[in-house]
Amino acid sequence: MAAGKLSKPHLEILDDKHALAERAAELLTQTVSAAAAERGKYAGRTSVALAGGTTPRLLYQLLSHRPWHQRIPWDRIQWIVGDERVVPPDHEDSNFRMVYENLFDPAGVREDHHFRVMTELPTPQAAAADYMKRLQAALGITPGSGTTPSLDLMLLGMGSDGHTASLFPHTDALREREKIVLANWVEKLDSWRITVTPPVLEGAKRILVLVSGEDKAKALFQVLKGEWNPEEYPAQILRDLPSVAWIVDKAAAVDIT
Ligand code: 6PG
Repeated sequence: MAAGKLSKPHLEILDDKHALAERAAELLTQTVSAAAAERGKYAGRTSVALAGGTTPRLLYQLLSHRPWHQRIPWDRIQWIVGDERVVPPDHEDSNFRMVYENLFDPAGVREDHHFRVMTELPTPQAAAADYMKRLQAALGITPGSGTTPSLDLMLLGMGSDGHTASLFPHTDALREREKIVLANWVEKLDSWRITVTPPVLEGAKRILVLVSGEDKAKALFQVLKGEWNPEEYPAQILRDLPSVAWIVDKAAAVDIT
């Protein structure tokens, strides 16, 4: 990964988390509608990777209701959860459960249109390998070909430590360049995470990074304006990608405005 020169990121600062969710809903709807139209009726499905955590909840709830629900071509999209905690799918910490309850279920997304990490498999490594195989099949990638997917859209969040997806500071997944999904040991959480890897973020056609709240302000400054140090601030790997739009609220942007 070349050292990041600070290009001018696409940054939108919204008044609050509600305005952020509305803006993200509009951008997601525009992006997936255009991608589906471009693909045409019979080509592969438009692929969208979803963020976990709490910030995207409001967005997912909006997408399940008017006016956005009517505008999204649901039958032509496949939804991928970008990273997962190694807990059962009905556990309160499960990203899949959060996305299911706030988006897939209320929006009526059919089961064959969404993917979840099978965290019930015997080990995190088995879950990661299984997820990678299923994603490669869904995205038309031959296993072992080294082909990186080019997702039509990826939603990401950012932690107050500057992590994104489950690419946490000083963890192995940050350095992964071959596999598209990895089981990642996160010492500070004393737990495993399953996550897409940097090549998947770099290959996405469009990324929306949703950042809300004052607790993210220091990390957002470091990620967007600080010295290049992605081991310390993993979301910096996004900073020079032309595909990325940072959709943040005023509270998160307090140190960069
Ligand atoms: C997760 C997410 C993670 C999240 C950030 C921000 O599994 O937690 O994938 O990357 O986006 O931690 O989380 P909040 O939105 O809860 O602040």
